[in-house]
Amino acid sequence: MTFSPDLVSSPEEHDCDEVFPLVFASSSPGDEHQIRAWVADQKPELNRLLARHGAILFRNFGLENDNDFDKFIKAFGFPNFTYAESLSNAVRQNRTERVFTANEAPSEVSIFLHHEMAQTPVFPSKLFFYCEHAALEGGQTPLCRSDALLKVIEKNQPKFLSKCENLGVRYSNTMPSKNDSESGQGRSWKSTLSVETATQAETKLHALGYSWQWCAGDRLRVTTSVMPAVRTLSDGRRVFFNQLIAAFKGWKTEEGGPNKAITFGDGSVIDDGDMSQVAESAEALTFDMRWETGDAVLVDNFLVMHGRRPFRGTRRVLASLVGNEERKSSGVSNAN
Ligand SMILES: [Fe+2]
Repeated sequence: MTFSPDLVSSPEEHDCDEVFPLVFASSSPGDEHQIRAWVADQKPELNRLLARHGAILFRNFGLENDNDFDKFIKAFGFPNFTYAESLSNAVRQNRTERVFTANEAPSEVSIFLHHEMAQTPVFPSKLFFYCEHAALEGGQTPLCRSDALLKVIEKNQPKFLSKCENLGVRYSNTMPSKNDSESGQGRSWKSTLSVETATQAETKLHALGYSWQWCAGDRLRVTTSVMPAVRTLSDGRRVFFNQLIAAFKGWKTEEGGPNKAITFGDGSVIDDGDMSQVAESAEALTFDMRWETGDAVLVDNFLVMHGRRPFRGTRRVLASLVGNEERKSSGVSNAN
C-alpha cells in the first residue's frame, strides 16, 4: 500500500491569518521505510511550510511508540538539542537519546504559553511532540503564534511593547536542591546546570552572565542577564519571543507574587495589568491542539508558543528538541 499523506486544512476554526496548524493526514499508517522516504522527499517543502505557518500536525502516520517517534524525528536529519545540556527548569525523563517526557508536572497544573527555554541564552529552534496516550479529558497543547500576538500588543499596548523592546527583560527563579516532580519548574540546580558542586554551579552561572544567591535549604536563586523580549525573523516578521507569560502566570516564588520572576532589563517592575492584558490577548489567539494517540506535531519555536492544559486520565506526550545550528539560516536576530 502506498503512503501519501494529504495536506488537509486545520481541524478547527481559528483566529490567525495563516492556516494554523497545518495538518498532514494519512488514510492508512505507513511503515518505517515509507515514512522515512516520505519525510526525505517532502523535507524542503515541510521546512518552508513550517517557517511560514509555525506548526504542522502529522496524523495517522502509524507512530505507535517512542521508538517509532525517534525514527520519525531522525528522518528529518535535524541536529539534536539534548535535555541534559539545556537550562530547562522542567523535570523530564529520557526515553531515547532524543526523546523525553514533555513535562512531569501533575495533571491539574497548567503549563502556560512559552517559547521553549526563551528565558535562557540557549534554546531550541524547533520542537517535536508525540502523543503516546491521549488524556481522557483535557490535556490539549495550546499553540499561539507570536507574530500575531505582537501585532495585537503593538495595537493595544504600544507603550508596554516599546519598553519591552528598549529595555529587554530579566528572569529570576529559584532552583531546588533536588528534583521536584510536583512542580513544572522543579529541576534541581545540579541537574539544570549539569554540575555536582556549588563552586561548579557558580563558575557556570558566571560564564552565562547570571547573578545568583544561595538560599535556605540549599536552594539557588538566579537572575539572568538582560534578554531581548522581541526578536525579528529572517523574513522580517517580528515575534514576541520571550518567557513573560509563563513566568508571570506560572512561576510562583516564595518571596511573593509572580512579579518577582520578571522585570524589565533595568530592574524596573513590569506592570501586572500589562501582563494580564498580554496573557488575555495570547489566549484569544490560541489554538488548542486536541491530541489523538499517535499524533506527532512539529513546532517552530521561534514563531509559536506552546503550553499544556490540565487533564484527567493518563496523558503521555513525548517531546524532542532541535538544535540551533540552523539559527543563522532560519534566522532569528535580536531586535534591540
Ligand atoms: Fe515547553
